[in-house]
Amino acid sequence: MTDGVHPATPHRRRPRYAGKYPRRFEDKYKERSPERYPDTVAKVLASGKTPAGTHRPIMVAEALEALRPQPGEVAVDCTIGYGGHAREILARIQPGGRLIGLDVDSVELPKTEARLRALGFGPEAFRAHRSNFAGLPKVLAAQQLPGADVILADLGVSSMQLDDPARGFTAKFDGPLDMRMNPQRGQPASALLQRLDAESLATLLTENADEPHAQRLAAALAGQRLATTRDLADAIRRALPRACRDEEREDSIRRVFQALRIAVNDELSALDALLRSLPACLNPGGRVAILAFHSGEDRRVKKAFEAGRRDGLYADISREVIRPTRAERYDNPRSTAAKLRWARKAM
Ligand SMILES: C[S@@+](CC[C@H](N)C(=O)[O-])C[C@H]1O[C@@H](n2cnc3c(N)ncnc32)[C@H](O)[C@@H]1O
Repeated sequence: MTDGVHPATPHRRRPRYAGKYPRRFEDKYKERSPERYPDTVAKVLASGKTPAGTHRPIMVAEALEALRPQPGEVAVDCTIGYGGHAREILARIQPGGRLIGLDVDSVELPKTEARLRALGFGPEAFRAHRSNFAGLPKVLAAQQLPGADVILADLGVSSMQLDDPARGFTAKFDGPLDMRMNPQRGQPASALLQRLDAESLATLLTENADEPHAQRLAAALAGQRLATTRDLADAIRRALPRACRDEEREDSIRRVFQALRIAVNDELSALDALLRSLPACLNPGGRVAILAFHSGEDRRVKKAFEAGRRDGLYADISREVIRPTRAERYDNPRSTAAKLRWARKAM
């Protein structure tokens, strides 16, 4: 049988899991099909959680206020992720506008492209490119575009990446210690840990995550063979002083994971390259907004925008950092660390 919308699929038993609700990512098949199970997804959202396999866009109203996308404009979403921001920008640049969506994630990008196509955005309005945003000038040149009117970068990882144990981004789930946003390129975090000496690892933990126990943890972790996220989390717990409270241990685990992820994906070099290329990639009067999630990112954005303003490249920049509202932080705890800054290119 088919209901005319969903192709007929053979009857399958409900996956077995203990309790009323599934806990493992693989069992959350309803959340991962929001089109088929809107009621389940609505319940998960109402509980303040992100449905598995999706991403809730952060500070959408604030980003749109800064970017002011207009019909007919060219927009670039440097980090398209699930397409939440892209979808809103696309709606505002019609008729006649086009959006180029970049992402390094070879697993999620085709799904996002299909989702936006299903919303009616054809190739004349929207194109997806698997590209690092460090290569933005090349992407624009390949499209024969002199520049963009609107550029957005929502940095860091998506909830799809975080919540899928197979991607190995978090200690919350056991999985391979990978952390690559593009699993087809580079080396997983396990290989990086094995390769680094204690001094380089300590520097990385301090620079990428301000980890207070950097020296001690680096001495215990550098050169180790740690294959899974659980192996790493256990090794961190063992290495911390006995006097540490559970909360402090969990904070260190979160920071070590963040520091390694930034290094595995060379995130700060990519951000520096993007910030350098932005003035040349924006059309006169063009707007850029960047959402950062830790101090290392936000510091770079702030400095680059201030320098651009001093040099006359930007006509205006955000005076203060813009933070999510209390309501958004309550509704979506993953928005808590977000910091938005914007700049407008001179005419
Ligand atoms: C926070 S998510 C973006 C979510 C998106 N704004 C949405 O509404 O669904 C960040 C995305 O940026 C991608 N990403 C991170 N660094 C990147 C880079 N240097 N170049 C391109 N994409 C990158 C990640 O793969 C991830 O999909």
